[in-house]
Amino acid sequence: MIWTVLLLVQALLFYFILTNRSRRKTDPPLDKGLVPWLGHALEFGKDAAKFLNRMKLKHGNVFTVRAAGRYVTVLLDPHSYDTIMNDSESLDFIRHAQVLMERIFTLRLSHHQMAKAKTMMTKHFMGTNLAALNHTMSRHIQALLKAEMPPNQKDWKEKGLFDFSYSLLFKAGYLTLFGEQNNNTTDLSSIYEEYKKFDDLLTKMARGTLKSEEGKTAQSVRQKLWEFLAPAGLTADLGSRSWLHAYRRLLQEEGVDEETQAKAVLLQLWATQGNVGPAAFWLLGYLLTNPQALWAVKKELSWTSQVEASGTPLMDRPATTPVFDSALEETLRLTAAPFITREVVQEKTLHMADGQEYLLRKGDRVCLFPFISPQMDPEIYQEPQKFKYDRFMNKDGSVKKDFYKGGRRLKYYTMPWGAGTNGCVGKQFAINTIRQFVYMVLTNYDLELCDPNAQMPEVNASRYGFGMLQPQGDLSVRYKPRNTH
Ligand code: HEM
Repeated sequence: MIWTVLLLVQALLFYFILTNRSRRKTDPPLDKGLVPWLGHALEFGKDAAKFLNRMKLKHGNVFTVRAAGRYVTVLLDPHSYDTIMNDSESLDFIRHAQVLMERIFTLRLSHHQMAKAKTMMTKHFMGTNLAALNHTMSRHIQALLKAEMPPNQKDWKEKGLFDFSYSLLFKAGYLTLFGEQNNNTTDLSSIYEEYKKFDDLLTKMARGTLKSEEGKTAQSVRQKLWEFLAPAGLTADLGSRSWLHAYRRLLQEEGVDEETQAKAVLLQLWATQGNVGPAAFWLLGYLLTNPQALWAVKKELSWTSQVEASGTPLMDRPATTPVFDSALEETLRLTAAPFITREVVQEKTLHMADGQEYLLRKGDRVCLFPFISPQMDPEIYQEPQKFKYDRFMNKDGSVKKDFYKGGRRLKYYTMPWGAGTNGCVGKQFAINTIRQFVYMVLTNYDLELCDPNAQMPEVNASRYGFGMLQPQGDLSVRYKPRNTH
């Protein structure tokens, strides 16, 4: 017994010595935190924006922190982001993604399988495929809105705006991308309910901090979703050229077994549905709490619908909506907060834009957090906390792309979609979806705040780093079809 304990202590000491480090001259400032091994993990996970802002004040635009035994170099100077984005030789995107996939989805795919899937998906979300997807999506949004608010309904209906936007867009996205065979509303609602439970536990799964009861819930919810999704894409009901059918075929050709395929489809469900609903919520919320912005967007949308003779405006093709585009860009600036993480697979010199150089050590991670800079940087955006719907528009209505830091024009002035080879493949589809949804809600329905003085809810701080933020609580709204005055 005593020998076992001694061996264990020795092993721990040995591990501690191996993973502990002191700063070399070539390293960025190092902040290990007070707790051995764990370092800053708890503070990082609780509110990453607050923690990283604190580190930025202490160390500047680049520093290395220890979190749960890993060393993460955080870079917060947007002028230097290209050195990270453009280097796929020393920095690897997939390894970190694999760690998250294993923790969240219990899914293991090889580097090669993931790279192949990415190439395939990129092709399926552009050109004629994209036009077809936009068309199907708009049909489903319209039908679901009608089911939610029948045209003859005279009374106001009250709901939380987040719940309303996320559930409706999830269902429309599910029908469009995962199968119309499940178009029974009860089925759809129960899939959404399970998905939402899964989404609520996602950050804890990613950090490995689920409590025992939560662990059981996560496992049972995953199991139910795998069962729902097992047949999705196997038949050609979405069209034999659908992305999901192609994805399933690709996995089959790669020899991936059926259980793993269902897990991979759940990963895609989250990747394709996890951000659109929350983004639509923030946009509608900011519009409702900023009457001038709402008026400007409504004016543009009603003008667009008058110009369109087809009766189905904004549905199937790119539309010219500069006010809407600027309001969406501004919404995403305030509420899109992904980490852009890479694993250092060979030692790399980080050349900062200010001329400083640091060595990134093999085995470490490097992380950009564009939410802090550029997106919320007061040097780039005046009053960065404020929603200004026309921030991304010039006076002549053209798109504003000139933003400066340190007197130099920025290449990356907002990064909701990531960037470079690992940027979002669904960007255009997502923008079209949000535009269609906002258009249909604002033109066909009366939508207003239950409390005219209500403010936007706080952000759920534990979600920094995982794409679109979500609110803590909700914003109560009421709605009814417009023609029933
Ligand atoms: C507002 C909506 C959305 C936002 C803000 C968003 C944002 C992002 C970001 C930041 C990434 C990069 C993640 C990283 O670097 O780790 C990403 C990746 C991805 N997105 Fe989106 N996304 C949205 C909607 C969508 C939609 C609608 C689809 C598909 C229909 C989609 C499909 C994907 C896929 C497949 C990837 C992984 C790309 C890869 O493997 O490199 N996204 N998204």
